[in-house]
Amino acid sequence: MRTGVWLVGARGSVATTSIVGGLALRAGLAGPTGCVTELPELRGPALPSFADLVFGGHDVATTPLCKRAEALADSGVIPGRLVTALPDELAAVEQELRPAPVGSTQADRAAAVVRDLTAFRDRHGLDRVVVVNVSATEPAPAPHPGHADPDALRAALTGPDEVLPPSSLYGYAALLAGCPYVDFTPSTGLRLPALAALAEQLRLPYAGHDGKTGETLVKSVLAPMFAMRNLAVRSWSGVNLLGGGDGATLADPAANAAKVQSKQRVLGETLGYVPQGGTRIEYVEELGDFKTAWDLITFAGFLGTGMRMEFTWHGCDSALAAPLVLDLARLTAAAHAAGHVGPLAELGFFFKDPLGTPTHSLAEQWARLADFTRGLHEGVDGSDDNVG
Ligand SMILES: NC(=O)c1ccc[n+]([C@@H]2O[C@H](COP(=O)([O-])OP(=O)(O)OC[C@H]3O[C@@H](n4cnc5c(N)ncnc54)[C@H](O)[C@@H]3O)[C@@H](O)[C@H]2O)c1
Repeated sequence: MRTGVWLVGARGSVATTSIVGGLALRAGLAGPTGCVTELPELRGPALPSFADLVFGGHDVATTPLCKRAEALADSGVIPGRLVTALPDELAAVEQELRPAPVGSTQADRAAAVVRDLTAFRDRHGLDRVVVVNVSATEPAPAPHPGHADPDALRAALTGPDEVLPPSSLYGYAALLAGCPYVDFTPSTGLRLPALAALAEQLRLPYAGHDGKTGETLVKSVLAPMFAMRNLAVRSWSGVNLLGGGDGATLADPAANAAKVQSKQRVLGETLGYVPQGGTRIEYVEELGDFKTAWDLITFAGFLGTGMRMEFTWHGCDSALAAPLVLDLARLTAAAHAAGHVGPLAELGFFFKDPLGTPTHSLAEQWARLADFTRGLHEGVDGSDDNVG
């Protein structure tokens, strides 16, 4: 199943690491550590192989992909030997990267994205293209009457207003081009009534929101533990220090607010109450793509005895995110091939703020994902062994 992976924000850290990783896996230069679709519970014939993945994308930046890859290698995010070993492959992906669309109205810009997506699909004879948003986090948009339903949206987009934020405009164009859409960021994406309705009308699946790769991943394991042992969490406070492009974007208070909201949801929804405390995100340029999170949890046990727990997470954000981007592209492609439509709640395992499900517990999400993937594999002919 030849599958296009169209990355919005294709020259960013997560996208570049995903591309280098995908090419390295295809060339047999790296193993799939971190790719959950290669675990025995998930791998199987319904998923496109790594060799089936063809990369392309949009970005507002123009830095050559090989330069971005070299910079990531210099900062220890990816091995430099992979960048040296894959010059032709990276040059081929460079040919598939397009500047962000231009046009006097948002309808014109959406049409330009549709043209880029369909030309990519035709050029490579792809069965389908999954659009994955890994571009910079944006602030929440102002409400607009065009958000209400597909007809109102179509009409509004031909006018002078900025009706949709970029993540939603790319999502809209993806749907018009017949592509499933995955949002790895906390941005709005398809989370507007008009776009959710359009995805249903056009019979397309989508997934999101905001990849769960660090502090929130740990929270989604620990919070159910406190709940299951009937321990009362009194406070949960976290500080995240990060650099890189994502860190710089999150220095903007509006983008920061979108991210913090997405990170806190897991506690209220898992515990059934919101403990005291919050999450702070601070930009520290020196840290580059590496992130440190400190969390302090205070909780009460039997007869009210007070206790505390602390943890520190030192993660390389792009190295944690990239294998999940590849997983999501493979799973969403298989879900589309199997005829799934609307929000893919079964992919909640991957997200901080999962669409279509209130479940944040990693264990429950894992069980649901494994069931779903088993169903996808059972629906295809197992004799065609195209696992990665
Ligand atoms: N790394 C992780 O662990 C992780 C986890 C969850 C979510 N995310 C999200 O993934 C996204 C990418 O993170 P990153 O570290 O790669 O950031 P980054 O800043 O390195 O990359 C973002 C890219 O998006 C591009 N971009 C900005 N606006 C655009 C537009 N309108 N159209 C096309 N491209 C545009 C930028 O030029 C840049 O190349 C962020 O939104 C981040 O919050 C990352």
